[in-house]
Amino acid sequence: MKFVLATANPGKIREMREILGATGFNILTRDECGIDFEVEETGSTFFENALIKAKAICEATGMSAIADDSGLLVDALNGEPGVYSSSYGGENLSSDERCAYLLKKLQGKEQARAKFVCTVICYFPDGEYIAAEGECLGHIVSQPSGSGGFGYDPIFLVEGKNKTMAELTSDEKNEISHRNEALSKLTLLLKERGYM
Ligand code: IMP
Repeated sequence: MKFVLATANPGKIREMREILGATGFNILTRDECGIDFEVEETGSTFFENALIKAKAICEATGMSAIADDSGLLVDALNGEPGVYSSSYGGENLSSDERCAYLLKKLQGKEQARAKFVCTVICYFPDGEYIAAEGECLGHIVSQPSGSGGFGYDPIFLVEGKNKTMAELTSDEKNEISHRNEALSKLTLLLKERGYM
């Protein structure tokens, strides 16, 4: 079974391919399908944005498309950056600058409980879709640490581990991540529907 990933984020593509590798699915990227346009994320929830991306890429390729919409929610910032995680602090910031911006916003706050969340949607050419969600709990640390992963990983201390997400190996991250939880549930749903 062939699927196209409806994401342009290289970190997400790598992790989604690693996680979905065991399924035996043929996973293609947008680039491999000749998609060169951006899909505007106009939704106000992870679900809406995942649906917008999956539908647009399915319609452009004629193939079943899997979209991931994900982000970081920090309790002390009332759930920010949330759905705006990818552009928090400004469109053109690097990941390091975005982490620094978030740490600055957290200065003076006492606790920094946070979670990563992920909604994945598989949209089929007949207009049907299935969705699944995952989350990963943790805390924001004041000093970035580690070079693995992407995005906010260096400032996210994973609950139950004494490491930031960026200090984990990719296998370790994929075992506990929000993305893994969502994609594992999605894979089960695909299995139930006879796609595996
Ligand atoms: P979007 O789903 O394309 O809107 O972007 C999600 C954004 O959330 C990414 O650009 C990252 O900033 C952040 N994010 C999502 N998942 C992760 C993760 O696994 N590690 C670090 N940052 C993440």
